[in-house]
Amino acid sequence: MSGGDGFFARLFRTWLPRTPRESSEAVVRNIWLHAFPARITKRSLSWLASGWLGTVSLHLFIILSLTGVVLMFLYVPSVERAYASVKDIEFVVSFGSWIRGTHRIAAHLMVVVVVLHLVRVFLTGAYKKEGAPGAHRPLNWLVGLVLLVLTFALSFTGYLLPWDQLAYWAVTVGTQIAAAAPLVGEELRQLLLGGTVVGQPTLLRFYVLHCFALPLLTVFLVAWHMWRIRKDGGLAVADRVADDAREQAAITPPPPGKTYTLMGATQGGTVQAASSTGQLENATTPGVPAIPRRSTAVFLAVLALCSVLGLLLQAPLEEPANPAVTPNPAKAPWYFLWLQELVSILTFRIGDFVVDGSFLGGILVPGLLIGLLAAWPYLDKSPAAAAGIWFHPSRKVQNRVFLLLLFACVVLTIIGTYFRGPYWAWTWPWADAHPHTTLT
Ligand code: HEM
Repeated sequence: MSGGDGFFARLFRTWLPRTPRESSEAVVRNIWLHAFPARITKRSLSWLASGWLGTVSLHLFIILSLTGVVLMFLYVPSVERAYASVKDIEFVVSFGSWIRGTHRIAAHLMVVVVVLHLVRVFLTGAYKKEGAPGAHRPLNWLVGLVLLVLTFALSFTGYLLPWDQLAYWAVTVGTQIAAAAPLVGEELRQLLLGGTVVGQPTLLRFYVLHCFALPLLTVFLVAWHMWRIRKDGGLAVADRVADDAREQAAITPPPPGKTYTLMGATQGGTVQAASSTGQLENATTPGVPAIPRRSTAVFLAVLALCSVLGLLLQAPLEEPANPAVTPNPAKAPWYFLWLQELVSILTFRIGDFVVDGSFLGGILVPGLLIGLLAAWPYLDKSPAAAAGIWFHPSRKVQNRVFLLLLFACVVLTIIGTYFRGPYWAWTWPWADAHPHTTLT
């Protein structure tokens, strides 16, 4: 592309654009930079607007894919050899323990960060329909929800692969919850397991899902998610910037449907169109190099964090899986413990009649929660001007309901992780009977 004229610039050749025009050209000419918008509002770039949590989720997925490919060269998906191959990775292969630790910590972090990203999008009302003509943010919220389910599924299928006691029983418990679904529950469980118990067909199914089918689907949906952000006219906060600028300059919005920019077919009314007509001169900046530069900084920080934690926190490897020895209690992976806790709370006896909480806690409540989240953008009647703004007063009640639900899930997860012992009885973390709690 272009570069400075200094000695080093000529020697190493720099692609750094020097003018806004060169930035726009970079976006059009370069296949990688094509993913970025020609212009972006400065507020969308701010760390506080989004926490860049979606970007962190994406980077964690990239780190998981890279370390995952290395692990695939070493792991053997057979019940006879899986455990030994993980042991080799841990104790024999150079840097194997580090790669596995990094993969494992990135997987846990991805679950946490994707949930935090959802919380951010909710609290800023960024799922509200607005923005460019053709914008439909609720659709991107739905794509995000599928990504959330995929994130859990990716983590859960990876859980079984070490084929140790922890993996075997966590998956046994997790799939037992799925069996409580009405009509198709048992069939679903058997489809997942490839039989009635966790065995070789289960390992192979989870392996293929974990290493191929689910990552492929995730790549496709993330690409769609990113493309939708562009179609929706950028992040929701950008709409507010356009409002502010128009108010200040008392400029009426350009007629919809009119194409203003030279570099792309942006329609009238978008931030890009407004900036090209000079309305938002000060509020926007070229997308390149601003976005790739920040994104790279975020990637390096996330990589450094995962690598250090992967080194410091050793990934657990218990005794080899043994169907004859059931740990007491057998716990699901930590992100499903709020469900296991719900199942236990909702299982009770009225006289001789036992209410089975598996369906209520394991299927009905999470099903309703996902359904509620999916419908929320369509139920939210707050004004369009509330989109992109943290804790907008018009959304006070719904924010409180959302935070209350979130709080309940977090508390149940903490109870399930630290306060449950044999037979799921309440056990203080320091009690002798408490099972050894690890970040698994
Ligand atoms: C693998 C999981 C996900 C990835 C990689 C991802 C990635 C991203 C990225 C990079 C952004 C740009 C803003 C930012 O960096 O925060 C974004 C925005 C967005 N995401 Fe996600 N996301 C994921 C999951 C979700 C989930 C679970 C939801 C909600 C259910 C969601 C809904 C949205 C919405 C509505 C926007 C637009 C926000 C705005 O306009 O301010 N995403 N996502």
